[in-house]
Formats: sequence, structure tokens, C-alpha cells
Amino acid sequence: MGIRIAVLASGRGSNLLAIMNSIAEGKINGEIAVVLSDKAEAKALDHAREAGIPAYHVNPKAYEQKADYEAELLCLIEQADCQLICLAGYMRILSPYFISHASCPVMNIHPALLPSFPGLHGQRQALEYGVKVAGCTVHFVDEGMDSGAIILQKVVPVLDDDTEDTLSARILVQEHQAYSEAIQLFAQGRLEVCGRMVKVKGE
Ligand code: GRF
Repeated sequence: MGIRIAVLASGRGSNLLAIMNSIAEGKINGEIAVVLSDKAEAKALDHAREAGIPAYHVNPKAYEQKADYEAELLCLIEQADCQLICLAGYMRILSPYFISHASCPVMNIHPALLPSFPGLHGQRQALEYGVKVAGCTVHFVDEGMDSGAIILQKVVPVLDDDTEDTLSARILVQEHQAYSEAIQLFAQGRLEVCGRMVKVKGE
């Protein structure tokens, strides 16, 4: 039996699809138990529903307090009996309430080599800064913004004629690979967090 995963997403859902494909190919020992979105129109919800995965839109505007909205997310995650929460293009900052009440670890994928270029438009920030390599980071989520312990990173070159779109596309290929690898390491119980360091057992 593999791990049960909750995915939170706000948009396109390509990372969700990549995780679903890795599961289907036996590269992740687990299953997606529930997909949650703050956006009713998120493609991620469609991808999940097409695959028969329970998928819910939870509207933040329907709650007076952020904590009430997040309590509903946590309730659905608990009901689905999940051991890992994966943020995959989830465009809201989780509050300390969510992080401290989550009954399992939370992972995120960020399209930059953290700690450089946190926040929105990591790829654009990298391009504007003029770096020669860019990439993506899978990390555990803590109470800060893109500041949790780093699980793994993948690097791509920045080319002279790159636009935000071409660089983002190159990084996205690596994101899909990196997220599945990180989830599988977690599913295998191989991630050991020592302060800011995440050690991979058996390497
Ligand atoms: C990805 O670039 C991810 O790194 C960032 O948001 C984007 C989500 O894309 N956090 P998708 O919805 O998974 O296609």
C-alpha cells in the first residue's frame, strides 16, 4: 500500500498530471486521494475528475476568516486519510494555522532555484536578474514564503535568446520530473529532515 496524497492546485494542473502519470507508471508508490482548489475553473479539477479522483472547489470567499477556509481544506484532507499534502500551483499562501494543524507534511514545487527568486514569477525574476542557470525546487512548506527545507533541485541553462515563456517551458519539464522524484522518496520513507537539511537515506 502506498501513501495517500492530497493535491492543492489553482490552475493548469500540469504538475498534478505529471504526478498522476508517475503513479500510473509505477514511479510513485501511492495514490492521489483528493484534489482541492480555490478556483472553480481550475483545469486541475477537470484532470482529477476525468481520472475519477475526488476533486472539490473550496471557495475562500465563502468563509469569513482565512482560518475557517483552511479548516475546511484540512477537514477534507483528513477525511481522505492523506499522509502528504502537495501544493501544485496553489496560488494562496497557507497561514501558520494550516501548517501547524496539518496532520502530515506539506510539499511545494517552486519554479526557481531557492532561496533565489521566491514568490511570484520566479522564472521572470531569474531572467531579469541575468542568471546563467535557472531551475526548480521541491521543498517542505513552513510558515514562511518558499522558505522551507529543500528536498531537491534541478537546474537548466538560461539561453541568450530566452523569453519568460521559453525558460518557463524548459523549467517545467524538470518540475514534472523533480516533483515525482521527491514524492517517491517521501513515499519510500527516505527523507530525513535535520534542521534545514533534508537528507536522502540510502544515497
Ligand atoms: C508551476 O510552475 C509551479 O512551479 C508553480 O506554479 C506552476 C503551476 O503549474 N508553483 P501547473 O498548474 O502545475 O501546470
